[in-house]
Amino acid sequence: MTNVVLIYGSTTGNTEELSEHVAAGLKQAGAEVTVKNVADASVDELALYDAVVFGCSTWGDGELQDDFVDFHEAMGGISLEGKKAAVFGPGDSEDYPDTFCEAVGILEDALKKCGAEIVLESLRVDGDVEPAFDESETWGSKVAEAL
Ligand SMILES: Cc1cc2nc3c(=O)[nH]c(=O)nc-3n(C[C@H](O)[C@H](O)[C@H](O)COP(=O)(O)O)c2cc1C
Repeated sequence: MTNVVLIYGSTTGNTEELSEHVAAGLKQAGAEVTVKNVADASVDELALYDAVVFGCSTWGDGELQDDFVDFHEAMGGISLEGKKAAVFGPGDSEDYPDTFCEAVGILEDALKKCGAEIVLESLRVDGDVEPAFDESETWGSKVAEAL
């Protein structure tokens, strides 16, 4: 069974809610999933898993959610060669058209630089997250199938 860690950063709880649905989808498709808030995670732990899924909202003007900032910086020194990865996150294209879900792209780039393989196109959720719960679950299952 593929061992996946899902690490999320969430200020108002939207990414956290999406994470529950992504994790449910991953499990339905047969993955073993550990869900962690990035505030309680360290980059060293990534070595323990076959695959990494990051969930992160975008704040400021196209920046990572606050709790992800230090984690992202710490990724600069590690290798994720041989690991599979995927990224999702909510954003708001109406209020932030120029920086919509930029955190997702920042984390994709960081994963690639560490040598991880992105196995599925990232999921960017626009606006309210509740209507995207089913889509998130389906996306999670597709990620697990691609591992
Ligand atoms: C001050 C502020 C800045 C934001 N900046 C962006 C942004 O640059 N790009 C974007 O797509 N969404 C932006 N958003 C929208 C959030 O990413 C969105 O509300 C998200 O669902 C929050 O998720 P969280 O509760 O998991 O942190 C911003 C929201 C606020 C309140």
